Amino acid sequence: MEARVDVLLGAQWGDEGKGKVVDVVAPDYAVIARFQGGPNAGHTLIFDGKKHVLHTIPSGVFREGVWNLVGNGVVIDPVIFLREVKELDDAGVDVRPRLLISRRAHLILPTHRALDAASEADKGKEKIGSTLKGIGPTYMDKTGRNGLRMGDIERPDFKERYNALVAKHERLFSIYDKEVEWRSKEEEWLNAVEALRQFTLVDSEQWLDKQLREGRSVLAEGAQGTLLDIDFGTYPFVTSSNTISAGACIGLGVGPGRIGKVIGIFKAYCTRVGSGPFPTELHDAVGDAIRTAGNEFGSTTGRPRRCGWLDLPALRYAVMINGVTELAMMKADVLSGMDTIRVCTGYSIHGEKTDTLPFDLSADVEPIYTDMKGWGKLDPDQALPATAEAYIAYIEKATGVPVRIVSVGPDRSATMVREVAVEAP
Ligand code: GDP
Ligand code: IMO
Ligand code: MG
Repeated sequence: MEARVDVLLGAQWGDEGKGKVVDVVAPDYAVIARFQGGPNAGHTLIFDGKKHVLHTIPSGVFREGVWNLVGNGVVIDPVIFLREVKELDDAGVDVRPRLLISRRAHLILPTHRALDAASEADKGKEKIGSTLKGIGPTYMDKTGRNGLRMGDIERPDFKERYNALVAKHERLFSIYDKEVEWRSKEEEWLNAVEALRQFTLVDSEQWLDKQLREGRSVLAEGAQGTLLDIDFGTYPFVTSSNTISAGACIGLGVGPGRIGKVIGIFKAYCTRVGSGPFPTELHDAVGDAIRTAGNEFGSTTGRPRRCGWLDLPALRYAVMINGVTELAMMKADVLSGMDTIRVCTGYSIHGEKTDTLPFDLSADVEPIYTDMKGWGKLDPDQALPATAEAYIAYIEKATGVPVRIVSVGPDRSATMVREVAVEAP
């Protein structure tokens, strides 16, 4: 029987714990496939007392017998990619035999990174808070039909194509006030492109089609989160790709009828790194306490993450846009010890109440809260306390979707699976 593509994605502003859950469920799949984003992502996996952070490589890489595919929707920086492979080598994992890269995936050039930095500096106070990995300029070149793709490295005239794109970028630099230095990065980048030749490039849409026909199931691993989606996120404070479930169809080349479950990952609270609206953000000791308890510092940039209460209208929006069939609630342990946990159930905008996400999620949006009872220490080997169950039941009622996974610690083992009825898609 033909297999399905399940999609696992972030339902908030990224860093929900996608990497951890992918690693936990990966043994149930034949293939783990990244479908968008690039090294702006940082997916953390912790097991056997060791921590691994993946940026471009899918989070199924630590599981025996699982294929890992970097799909056509991903953008790849060869230097960062190789660094990641080296770190995995050092950890005793040779990814080469089980890692495939789509020929259609676009390349991030050193000039893309320089353009990202120049654009951010030029925006001043309006800056996006980009990870400065060149994501925006690379996707701009993709849609502008200028980009270089992985498959191009197999062409004899790759260097000429590279030079032509760099020449275009040099003309673009002239619109920025500051001198843009990037040449010092060129040699390392070109060497990394050479080294990429030892990896297996595939026409990934064809390869995936074959896997599915032969009954091998696929998990599409999202990067970033729904509220960072280029269309449905808090624009312009978003990333440059479609992070939502529809992005998996585009970023892998699979038809919508082949999608199975859509697993939405969310934290028991909210975080955001970078600029942009965040209605439930806490600028007080409680926000600081969550940041400390949750170790909320960026996996890619090390920046402190902004912290706040769970935003149900935003989560409901994510469920709607993605067609989420089940949820995973992460970092429940971080709220342990709080007497009261607040949940945003709606917003007041100039005195008008609403429980849906408005077009403009700006500073005038006042969250309306319901207070819930907190819980104590959580143990993955014991039933959840009644107050935690009540919190989950409240979320399930508000979203109409079951919470099947509850994560109570960063380690792979600190994961609980709840008995819930999940409707077959
Ligand atoms: P991703 O980008 O969605 O994969 O998430 P990140 O890896 O950027 O950020 C999630 C962080 O939370 C990582 O440091 C994880 O190790 C950690 N984490 C994941 N699940 C839990 C959990 O249930 N409890 C705690 N305390 N930490 C967790
Ligand atoms: P994972 O996959 C959290 C944020 C940046 C910035 C905005 C645009 O680990 O969840 P970009 O570099 O894409 O141009 O930045 O998006 N951002 C993320 N925030 N997690 C991520 O990935 C992110 N990737 C980008 O902070 O606000
Ligand atoms: Mg992350």
